[in-house]
Amino acid sequence: MIEVQALSKFYGTRKAVDELSFNVEKGEVLGFLGPNGAGKSTTMKILTCFMPATSGTAKVAGYDVFEQPLEVKKRVGYLPETPPVYKDMVVLDYLIYAANLHGLKKAAAKNAALEAIEKCGLGGVKGRLIGNLSKGYRQRVGLAQAIVHRPEVLILDEPTVGLDPKQIIEIRGLIKSLAGDHTVILSTHILPEVQATCSRVLIINQGRIVAIDSLDAISARLRKGNVLSLVVERGTSDLVGKIQSLPGVASVSNPERADGGHRIIVTADESSDIRSAVAKIAFSSDAGLLELKRESMSLEDVFVKLTTVEHSI
Ligand SMILES: Nc1ncnc2c1ncn2[C@@H]1O[C@H](COP(=O)(O)OP(=O)(O)OP(=O)(O)O)[C@@H](O)[C@H]1O
Ligand SMILES: [Mg+2]
Repeated sequence: MIEVQALSKFYGTRKAVDELSFNVEKGEVLGFLGPNGAGKSTTMKILTCFMPATSGTAKVAGYDVFEQPLEVKKRVGYLPETPPVYKDMVVLDYLIYAANLHGLKKAAAKNAALEAIEKCGLGGVKGRLIGNLSKGYRQRVGLAQAIVHRPEVLILDEPTVGLDPKQIIEIRGLIKSLAGDHTVILSTHILPEVQATCSRVLIINQGRIVAIDSLDAISARLRKGNVLSLVVERGTSDLVGKIQSLPGVASVSNPERADGGHRIIVTADESSDIRSAVAKIAFSSDAGLLELKRESMSLEDVFVKLTTVEHSI
């Protein structure tokens, strides 16, 4: 549904997007992650024909964003970083106007506007001036204008920014319900949002892709670290020594006071599963086992690891 090939964008001499290539299949929700300035919004502006790329190609629903922008715009709903809402318009009128811009006329435009109002929870404010709405409600209006022409593809630049927790859950639900029929790319800095809504994640840093994979694949890759955290009532050197001598154990930390006991961190060789052996030793010793769990990298850890570039001089 979306095909991006060697896409680059320079602002003057500054390279914002550097040879990006990726595909998004129909019905997928792709999470677009990256630190500030990574090139997310720039890529989204190119995909929605708001800005030309410097080189490379991008196709949406089979249409080239440079050569057939009208065809692309018909099929794409876009929520920019700053929602394009007119503050001196009433919500309903604005959404009818947005539907008109997409070629819907009279009753069809009104029906589409009402449907978007319903989906984005705007029923209570549809008669109010946009300029008088709170930030979160303005964000909802932005989302409503993105879906008003029932596009196949949604490109949402930080869709839940400024929303309250309840509305975040509702909007995530809305995005999930759109998946399947729609293809969605959404950027966010809220990592649990990715876990809640996305089937795949693309992480970019300094305009380049550093990872693109399913969340399952990313977590599986990260579990290889094989680190166990053990909390015992009595962290004795005897226990540490016994764990250390197990086959497959690479290192054992000194016990540190934590969680009402002593925490010991055990790191295994990549291919070894030492959970059961460690559990046996902890039980049979009189250490008083309080907790045993596998430490895995959180999405936050992955993100930091993949986007921290060590600058060489
Ligand atoms: N209009 C512009 N003129 C010059 N440079 C720009 C312009 N817009 C963006 N940039 C630069 O391009 C790079 C990528 O910016 P972009 O807005 O795409 O990042 P982003 O990933 O969306 O970041 P954020 O998470 O802060 O929204 C940055 O270095 C930014 O300073
Ligand atoms: Mg941005």
